[in-house]
Amino acid sequence: MYRSHNCGELNASNINTEVTLAGWVQKSRDKGFMNWVDLRDRYGITQLIFDESRTDKTVFELAKTLGREFVIQVKGTVIEREAKNKNIPTGEIEILVSELTILNAALTPPFTIEDETDGGEDIRMKYRYLDIRRNPVKNSLLFRHKVAMEVRKYLSDLDFCEVETPYLIKSTPEGARDFVVPSRMNEGQFYALPQSPQTFKQLLMVGGMDKYFQIVKCFRDEDLRADRQPEFTQIDCEMAFVEQEDILNVFEGLTRHLLKELKGIEVDKFPRITYDYAMKTYGNDKPDIRFGMKFGELNEFAKHKDFPVFNAAELVVGIAVPGAGNYTRKEIDGLIDWVKRPQVGASGMVYAKCNDDGTFKSSVDKFYDQDDLGNWGKITGAQPGDMIFVLSGPADKTRAQLSALRMELATRLGLRNPEEFAPLWVVDFPLLELDEESGRYHAMHHPFTSPKPEDMALLETDPGKVRANAYDMVLNGNEIGGGSIRIHDKATQQLMFKYLGFTEEEAKAQFGFLMDAFQFGAPPHGGLAFGLDRLVAILGGQETIRDFIAFPKNNSGRDVMIDAPATIDEAQLKELHIKIATV
Ligand code: AMO
Repeated sequence: MYRSHNCGELNASNINTEVTLAGWVQKSRDKGFMNWVDLRDRYGITQLIFDESRTDKTVFELAKTLGREFVIQVKGTVIEREAKNKNIPTGEIEILVSELTILNAALTPPFTIEDETDGGEDIRMKYRYLDIRRNPVKNSLLFRHKVAMEVRKYLSDLDFCEVETPYLIKSTPEGARDFVVPSRMNEGQFYALPQSPQTFKQLLMVGGMDKYFQIVKCFRDEDLRADRQPEFTQIDCEMAFVEQEDILNVFEGLTRHLLKELKGIEVDKFPRITYDYAMKTYGNDKPDIRFGMKFGELNEFAKHKDFPVFNAAELVVGIAVPGAGNYTRKEIDGLIDWVKRPQVGASGMVYAKCNDDGTFKSSVDKFYDQDDLGNWGKITGAQPGDMIFVLSGPADKTRAQLSALRMELATRLGLRNPEEFAPLWVVDFPLLELDEESGRYHAMHHPFTSPKPEDMALLETDPGKVRANAYDMVLNGNEIGGGSIRIHDKATQQLMFKYLGFTEEEAKAQFGFLMDAFQFGAPPHGGLAFGLDRLVAILGGQETIRDFIAFPKNNSGRDVMIDAPATIDEAQLKELHIKIATV
């Protein structure tokens, strides 16, 4: 038996018990005649004491050779500590050690295994197994496990069945590039790793599974960001015989359950807003609604005077920033520079301060009188002490710029409290999205999404206006899930591929299996998928998903610990019929 107890469970009630513990040496304090060692495992830290007058001489001497992160086993007696530590559960006791075994020595770790470590990101990634010994990373993984367990429990109780779908498949069009795997047995042919199990879950509905879920890895070769990894995990779900309303209710229920069980927070019914409203009000289809600063469109009260910048603009739009009226000239100039950075791209910014007496002082007083500015104040909801910031230009771009400013100011003003949760649904997404470069329409969600029946006629005349039965769940400014009601008949699916620019042959070659299946009694169905990494990170009060993944990739898609991707040897290449072209 390696251990009778773990390092987190002993307390005053165990005094005088003989115990065996095993773990890692966190640190030791050698005072010559007395040596204290902190022994750590996943569950906590227990203090060991080696005392010259009470400990066997060989054991006492051996203890002096222990280095950080040595793996040891000790036997001893639980005794009361003289200097108690109220901050840890084991803080009232220590173990007077009688036997010590070094199970494995350790090199000095390249960074300290402490909550606040001296190791930078790169070194911690290279030695991720050491990073995992640190509380913040360990706790994030334990938290992730809890979320996954609660999801499984909740969905299983509602009769959802977890079904595994294959990883070696054919391309699924979720909008990113595929990772591909060459087939040794089929020369010149490749599998694609799933960007999601989309087509398979639909086929499970045709197969009568009725309610499916899967906590599943997905693979997307796309540019990486804090909230994106090339392999990530979805809670993928699908239901048959449902309408949008049924799906929203079930998965709102799941999210509410998670918030309650994991954060102890009860939230009201989630607000639902349309995509159009989200874009107009927040400049963003994943608005953070923990705070206000809603957009006020000012065209009517900005384009009637002689200010050429606004007159030339398609959209003049502003936000009232609470308490920003006292910003200094320098702070305002700093913000103007901030919106002019290439990442945001505004050409300039106008501002108007709402004074304590309700009058306004603006950077464009030359063009606008108090009546005009008063209207700006009404539309943006400005209160005395607020500052209205106004951007102008092409509508979509300007909204995106103001959205970036809104988020930046919210961060600066401390309005993005990670312990506050503001979920919502964004519904009625457009079915199609125009790709400026190719001039072609793409499916905004994916090609299996059903148009709203009442908008079908617009497909011929104004495809960009067609709305889909598609929805996203948004939490604190992050898209944590998305889905749709699907097309379930061959003719509509064929039509959709036609609108997306597929020839009949291409559609048949890529998705013939799905359209065939639709001819054998496909039930109406729909679903959604949550990004588990994102969900866990946000519930954990953070936005970087890397911290909640045991072995993540870096921003270049590399695993720096195992050093992947890597070249493979000639023989392997040959077997796979692959020639690497050298330039
Ligand atoms: P979608 O593409 O919206 O939908 O993905 C669902 C959710 O997965 C998360 N996500 C990611 N998380 C981390 N890294 C990534 N690279 C990444 N990409 C996406 C997001 C997103 O909301 N098959 C459909 C779902 C459906 O229609 O049922 C799908 O995959 O949180």
